[in-house]
Amino acid sequence: MEVETQMSRWEFVFPLERQRGVPLFQQIARAIAADIRRGRLRPGDRLPGTRTLAQSIGVQRQTVVSAFDELVAEGWVSCRPARGTFVSTELPDPKPRRLISTRLAASGMAARTTYDLAAAPEPELPYDVPRGSLLFAPSRPDVRLAPGDLLGRAYRRAISRRGGALLSYASPQGHPRLREALATMLASTRGLAATPANICVTRGSQMAISLLARALIQPGDVVLVEQLGYRPAWEAFRAAGAKVVGVPVDDGGLRIDALERAIAEHRVRAVYVTPHHQFPTTVTLAAGRRMRLLELARAHRFAVIEDDYDHEFHYDGRPVLPLASADPDGAVAYVGTLSKVLAPALRIGYVVAPTDVIDRIAAHRSHIDTQGDQVLEYAVAELLVDGAIQRHIRRMRREYRARRDVLVAALREHLDDYLTFTVPAGGIALWVKGRGALDVDAWARVARDHGVVIVAASAFALDGRPRPFARLGFASLNARELQEGVRRLRAAAVDENELR
Ligand SMILES: Cc1ncc(COP(=O)(O)O)c(C=O)c1O
Repeated sequence: MEVETQMSRWEFVFPLERQRGVPLFQQIARAIAADIRRGRLRPGDRLPGTRTLAQSIGVQRQTVVSAFDELVAEGWVSCRPARGTFVSTELPDPKPRRLISTRLAASGMAARTTYDLAAAPEPELPYDVPRGSLLFAPSRPDVRLAPGDLLGRAYRRAISRRGGALLSYASPQGHPRLREALATMLASTRGLAATPANICVTRGSQMAISLLARALIQPGDVVLVEQLGYRPAWEAFRAAGAKVVGVPVDDGGLRIDALERAIAEHRVRAVYVTPHHQFPTTVTLAAGRRMRLLELARAHRFAVIEDDYDHEFHYDGRPVLPLASADPDGAVAYVGTLSKVLAPALRIGYVVAPTDVIDRIAAHRSHIDTQGDQVLEYAVAELLVDGAIQRHIRRMRREYRARRDVLVAALREHLDDYLTFTVPAGGIALWVKGRGALDVDAWARVARDHGVVIVAASAFALDGRPRPFARLGFASLNARELQEGVRRLRAAAVDENELR
């Protein structure tokens, strides 16, 4: 519905909800008041006549009359006999404030559209951690130890010395200096023979996986994933139209016999794996299985998406080289991230792959994000070139190893009768199994009341069903917090036992 005023054209665009329990006349009054607040209607504007407005929004005229009466009573509008209803020149509350209605947010924006939306995706949200609780985060570094000063100084240096060049539009593939520095680092520490042309910098591995999904998947394609596994990756594949099918893992990682059966059953486009420290179980993919996976990829022409999210954190023995280091044929797309070694909020990750893949994902990235933060990318490149990030990684490796050992000792002391686990050679979490009758999901629920949050295996399962395991991340808690967390977990386990 529209009305001409001297200054503006106004439309009533608020959807009315007849079942909502708030009378229609109040919904209309609140909507008009909201439009006055945010300036869509200005002092002196004439409102449409009650009959016209009632017709246009499909309500009884009396409903609009009641709405206008309400607005007059509140001082939003005034009636001038024989001339109409006008927005008051002196408004009752010139400052925007929260409306009483839950449907109308502070800005007056309606919470629901008048049009249809596509199916709602499941959001990946940070864990809900009550104030004062400790979170054994499945996969987080301790951001309190992030080298903020170092990054801040490097960022400032980059912008002040090279600001002009770095503040403009740039390649979606990432700053050449960072790609160069990553290529050098990946060659020396992970045996990857990548040139800068084989690298696309992304905002974290999540974007890397999403871009690979766009580059690889056509609707209906099957992507095989580890089960248990990493749900945010599954959602990225699904968003690209893939059917996600789980392949079981055991203490040697992805089960190749089950993989072969799945390959025989489906036309598989890609297999997503976390071979170094399987997420969530922490095991390393057995050597024979690595070779077989690559052979199968070549024979059946599917991509292996290798997510190496915590490569740097290996404590006992040498880190295992990525699958991509043994792949001269181009079957593997390798995904890495600085989220664990620096901080997740920096959003710096990367894909290493043959150039035809890189060209495609760079094109997709250009449509979503145009490019990354060139200043940050340049700053991080400088820190890689002068070795500052490598020094930070060495410090963090020592720290996380010590935290792993603290958690292991505390669990053995306080929860030995409830849990078993194998000490992982690397990674940032322990995978624990409930002994006997311990119901791990119930334990996790009771633990919340004791001020500690843990994530049970059901969160990592395609079917969401409980299994007697949990992933206890140790990297984001210091020694004192780990010990306190385990004490709370013990109290929760005792409670859960008594409740049974
Ligand atoms: C299996 C896995 N992949 C990737 C990531 C890292 O994500 P990003 O680089 O997007 O921060 C995580 C972190 O939680 C993870 O657990």
